[in-house]
Amino acid sequence: MSEGRLWGGRFANAPDEAAWQLGVSTGVDRRLWRQDLAGSRAHADELARVGLLEPADHEAIRSGLSAIATELEEGRFPWRDTDEDLHGAVERRLIELRGDLGGRVRAGRSRNDQIANDLRLWCAEAATSLITRTRELQVALADQAEATADWLCPGYTHLQRAQPTTLGQHLLAHAWALDRDVGRLVDARARTLATSVLGAGALSGLTLPLDPERYAAALGYAGVAPNAMDAVADRDFAVELLSAAAMLAVHVSRLAEEIVLWASEEFAWAQVGEAFSTGSSIMPQKRNPDVAELARGKTGRIIGDLVALLTTLKGLPLTYNRDLQEDKAPVLDAVDALELVLPALAGTVTSLSFDRERLAGSAAAGGAMATDLAEGLVAAGVPFKAAHERVGQLVARLEREGRTLEDADPHEVGSELFELDDAASLLDPEQAVARRDAVLGPAPERVRDQLALLRARLEAPPEQASGPPRPLGDAQADEADAGADAGADAGADDVNRRDQP
Ligand code: ARG
Repeated sequence: MSEGRLWGGRFANAPDEAAWQLGVSTGVDRRLWRQDLAGSRAHADELARVGLLEPADHEAIRSGLSAIATELEEGRFPWRDTDEDLHGAVERRLIELRGDLGGRVRAGRSRNDQIANDLRLWCAEAATSLITRTRELQVALADQAEATADWLCPGYTHLQRAQPTTLGQHLLAHAWALDRDVGRLVDARARTLATSVLGAGALSGLTLPLDPERYAAALGYAGVAPNAMDAVADRDFAVELLSAAAMLAVHVSRLAEEIVLWASEEFAWAQVGEAFSTGSSIMPQKRNPDVAELARGKTGRIIGDLVALLTTLKGLPLTYNRDLQEDKAPVLDAVDALELVLPALAGTVTSLSFDRERLAGSAAAGGAMATDLAEGLVAAGVPFKAAHERVGQLVARLEREGRTLEDADPHEVGSELFELDDAASLLDPEQAVARRDAVLGPAPERVRDQLALLRARLEAPPEQASGPPRPLGDAQADEADAGADAGADAGADDVNRRDQP
């Protein structure tokens, strides 16, 4: 009796119970049933095409696979303890439904190419879903940035107040990081679907006249893997998805960390909406930003998932090794975590209510206008080195006197400033952001430009995120790109030539 396990003929006895338990993978690979059945349908079609399945049998197999799909969909598929894996379970059930005919579908394939195909298709779909969820988080950030494009707020380096910025600029910084994540997911998905592996068999291709190109076309791949041994051993696509997921999670975690800070009484920048906050079992007053903390917390696990898969792969000889069965759990874990985190964090971002007055009131605090003052001296002809020194000395003197730059007179730094029309503006944070009006700067108009650029990308097909963000309607940039594609080699030569002495 070996139903549910796809081998046994050469064994006299049943497997040891502990060995069997170790090998069973249905707890995890059942999640890949849609992809597995898609592969089986394509395979049955191919067997029929080359005459290895009679038309009537083909029909019976197709309808059997459909019945199994319905059972799985409705959660009434009869899983058995004797099912070793998803592939074994499906064949066992097909035989229950269609008799010995069910045993014909195994011809011309191996679980090695089957599972590689299943996981590829699953990863491609997961990438699509993560792209959508990431876009939703970007929209939440963009909406908040739109409302706060001209709100002053302190900007930090080293978590010390550095220079004033705008809240819109700060929020969009997170949205642009996520845009690169979408680009990475798009790229990972394209490579995942670049090469179909069915037809690789166990490792060496097939003796039966089945056509790998037809599997590829039926399942939505762009082409066929060139080498069967690589095809069954390759899990790069899963690593790429996990790597994009880990990077995305790191960005999510950095945003989450800031939300936690903003919600603290020390910062008091914003309040997290009640629906995204939790209370304490002992401290009745508490309102905790748990969603952001969990988003930050899950990131550790997701990074761990990437490391787990890389570690599984690093010592494996070609081709398939059973170690590869451990590839799925980390991929599923990371994707599941992000599927939970991304919508919850998007909701949290939307729920934030920022304290405009408090932000504006602290935008110039902590000496944040010092750079502007030094650059004012530069405009009046002082070398920056000397200007930096003088502003530094002024800040130190004010500190000794218990004052700050905020209540200083700009002329205290030097008489040169009398040459400027509007020296007072050097200490005005509103002017500080207005002055920074180059592309990428925090001036409200530039924030609105960025926002328009981001919105256009959010509405365009995600494939666009694979390329660089660039100003809207930049036809010249488009042309330049086309030119660069055509003459890429010539361009590289030019660069090399320039580097030569
Ligand atoms: N359950 C296996 C996996 O997930 C499928 C492939 C098994 N192949 C084999 N030759 N034992 O990797």
